[in-house]
Amino acid sequence: MICYKPIRKYFTVNSNCFFNNMPCGIYYEQKRIESWKLFVVKPARAVYHNEKASMKRGFFITFEGTECAGKSTHIKMLEDYFRKENIKYVLTREPGGTEVGEEIRNIVKHHAGENPVSDEAELLLFAASRAQHMREAILPALSSGTTVICDRFTDSTVAYQGYARGLDLKFISTLNKFATMGRSPDLTIILDLTPEESQERIRQRNEKEKIHDRIENEHVSFHIKVRNAFLKLADEEPDRVKIISSARSIEVVHNDIVKAVRNAVASLPK
Ligand SMILES: Nc1ncnc2c1ncn2[C@@H]1O[C@H](COP(=O)(O)OP(=O)(O)O)[C@@H](O)[C@H]1O
Ligand SMILES: [Mg+2]
Repeated sequence: MICYKPIRKYFTVNSNCFFNNMPCGIYYEQKRIESWKLFVVKPARAVYHNEKASMKRGFFITFEGTECAGKSTHIKMLEDYFRKENIKYVLTREPGGTEVGEEIRNIVKHHAGENPVSDEAELLLFAASRAQHMREAILPALSSGTTVICDRFTDSTVAYQGYARGLDLKFISTLNKFATMGRSPDLTIILDLTPEESQERIRQRNEKEKIHDRIENEHVSFHIKVRNAFLKLADEEPDRVKIISSARSIEVVHNDIVKAVRNAVASLPK
């Protein structure tokens, strides 16, 4: 649901948010993330091939974690922090973040037809969304020096489709590199919750509103595998991936996130 028309009244929501030097952003129409709309003033130019040549380099942060781990909550708080600090950023999400990606998102999250989405098709749909997302949105933003915050990215594919669904991890790694053109996040924050805590938060959310979500509805053993996979990924790449326990007060978790971002930015090669 990308709108290419300038919709001025929404600019105030993310006034520090730029995309190819044009104001843009994702705003919350209702509470649910499904109703996010991404708007840009004009279609993005694909300038990713200039990224290496550019002296400017945006910082790339991804948020990961199981359902209801607090990604949306903490991304919103990090946005507030960036706005206060006058840091130019864009917020985006996977699957989604582009017109093509948002159409794919609808299939992978909400397809409820008689014939289910196969595991293999699901993997490729995520990869297709990501390939478009990198080329149309993330790489151009990074190359213009804009910080990018992305709600879920490659680590979710490794955890959900690889470890939890059992698809070939080597193939997933190759596919991820192909989709991302080899650009990894500079910092990945995994918000960690035990499956019991996660299930309890999902139950509370479902009491308020229930939206059919194929992946959220998986059995608890699936979510245990996902959580263990995230912990393993953090173990394998400790410089990039930081585990932050979300089973604490929102303020304490937010402070840890800000610290992780500041440390990661400070340790970037000058
Ligand atoms: N420390 C915490 N951090 C984040 N969310 C929390 C925390 N404690 C309780 N919550 C609640 O858990 C839910 C997390 O939902 P959300 O941020 O949408 O998660 P996600 O985007 O990971 O699915 C919210 O209802 C939030 O109020
Ligand atoms: Mg969310």
